[in-house]
Amino acid sequence: MTSDSIGWGKLGAAGPHILVAELDLGPRVLAPSIALGVISIGMPSYGPVTVETAASLSECIDRAHRANYDLVVVDESLGAEAEEIVARLRCGGASLVVLQRTPSDAAALAWFRRGAAEVVLADRDLAALRHAAREQIERVRAARAGGAPGDVSAADGILRHLGSAVVLVDASGEITFANPAAEQILGSSMIDLHGKPLRGFLAEEVGESQLASALAGVAATPAIETRVRRRDGSFVPIALSCGPVFGTDGRPGGVVAAFRDLSDAQQWRAHVLQTEKMASIGQLAAGVAHEINNPMGFIHANLFQMTEYVADLRQIWNRAEVLLKTIGGSDPEAVRIAAAELSEAATELDVGFLLQDLAKAIRESQEGSERIRHIVQDLRDFSHQDTGERVLADLNQCLDSTANIVWPMMKHIVVLSKHYGELPPVPCYPMQIKQVFMNLLVNAYQAIEEAVAIRAYPGIGTVTLTTTPNDGGVLVEIADTGTGIAPDHLDRIFDPFFTTKKVGAGTGLGLSTSFNIIRRHGGTMRVESALGRGTAFKIHLPLLGEEIGSDLV
Ligand SMILES: Nc1ncnc2c1ncn2[C@@H]1O[C@H](COP(=O)(O)OP(=O)(O)O)[C@@H](O)[C@H]1O
Ligand SMILES: [Mg+2]
Repeated sequence: MTSDSIGWGKLGAAGPHILVAELDLGPRVLAPSIALGVISIGMPSYGPVTVETAASLSECIDRAHRANYDLVVVDESLGAEAEEIVARLRCGGASLVVLQRTPSDAAALAWFRRGAAEVVLADRDLAALRHAAREQIERVRAARAGGAPGDVSAADGILRHLGSAVVLVDASGEITFANPAAEQILGSSMIDLHGKPLRGFLAEEVGESQLASALAGVAATPAIETRVRRRDGSFVPIALSCGPVFGTDGRPGGVVAAFRDLSDAQQWRAHVLQTEKMASIGQLAAGVAHEINNPMGFIHANLFQMTEYVADLRQIWNRAEVLLKTIGGSDPEAVRIAAAELSEAATELDVGFLLQDLAKAIRESQEGSERIRHIVQDLRDFSHQDTGERVLADLNQCLDSTANIVWPMMKHIVVLSKHYGELPPVPCYPMQIKQVFMNLLVNAYQAIEEAVAIRAYPGIGTVTLTTTPNDGGVLVEIADTGTGIAPDHLDRIFDPFFTTKKVGAGTGLGLSTSFNIIRRHGGTMRVESALGRGTAFKIHLPLLGEEIGSDLV
């Protein structure tokens, strides 16, 4: 099937075919200049440019009979032959442009009468000629495609200036057209791209399968996030959508692939996530500081005690040294006295207890420092950013380490009840998932805190964490016995900036960020709530999640 039949023929067909009739005076100037001009202006959106030359009337006519040119450029310096060429080719379908060597309105008029579509004066860098060449090619292409000239210029202009990349492929998946934005993202010029399979640029299976279904005629799906591999081996993240194009016979004849560069968007998204995350760490800082301070307190006390024990042991060692010296001498009385003094000191300082207590102090300090190490590790884990790729993660571990971070803040009013099921590893961005858990845990804690305040008596709430393998994926539920959510708030809580909290306590971004993170993982997030009783958030993450959409925050 030709690309004409997919309705984009005027853009997807073979590249411009140009014939240049000029005197053969050694190195040719016109042909390369025109080719260069056409390419630099962006004509490759029609496919690779072919420029041929003819140095005489007969050669010109001969070529014109054999090929179907879009444009014939005739140099006035060919003299009478130039006139003959224009006269003979005027009805051939190609657009005729005459290059005038000396300015003359009368001569230009004569050229128009003979059938020239355009007469341009040879300027220093042939800019006018290049410009005319481009316009004439567009005109001819438009006329051949049966549309008004304006249609093509408009469509072409739109595609050329569109920020998004547009690539057309034919029924076999080969590129027939790429706009400049596509050339830039794919890192290749149209000339290189033409005829190459688009599949070769798609770095991931999701992209390939989207292209394959469009080629099979399946209607466009929402944009997916994937990556292209450029020729230099680098990757560019893109949001890609592919739509089938049908031929006049109603059969799928190719695909329009539209995509945009997500590099900046992803950087921005990562930045927003990171800021949000750091803000939640800020909220937790007091609790974490307390949690670190506790073990730090007894490590400090133990160290003080251990210093005293070491001083005692030194006293005993001093006496032991005296004894050793006397044993080496010849005075048995001195040995007896030294031994008695050692024994006395050992009893007085209770060496047995001292050693036992020292061991205990060391063990406790080790445990304390281990706890601190864990807290710091969890915090460090949490503040890390994801790498660009999904990894297989243990969601129980993600949930647990996040709960550990929030725990110091909530433990005075919350009982944590954990019901972790056996979960398969889930392909995800673990840092983002931890961020979701963090948002939900902080919300749960705040709801309990508020409920406790409302009841105005010292109370305690429960946060229940449940994970279960479910329906080709994993279900994570975070439920609390907090205030619950008013029914008229329920459908607004996922809106950005919706918050019922005091200034400083809430940004209203936690749930909307979380919702988008889960959605990008191809999962779902639901809420159930009863006012005055509590709330449960249920997250389902699929094992083979497709990333959907690319909305931010
Ligand atoms: N577990 C919950 N219990 C009660 N209300 C909740 C809970 N989670 C969220 N909400 C409600 O949803 C609103 C939006 O939550 P969120 O997007 O996290 O923003 P923020 O916590 O900053 O207010 C909260 O202000 C609160 O009214
Ligand atoms: Mg919140």
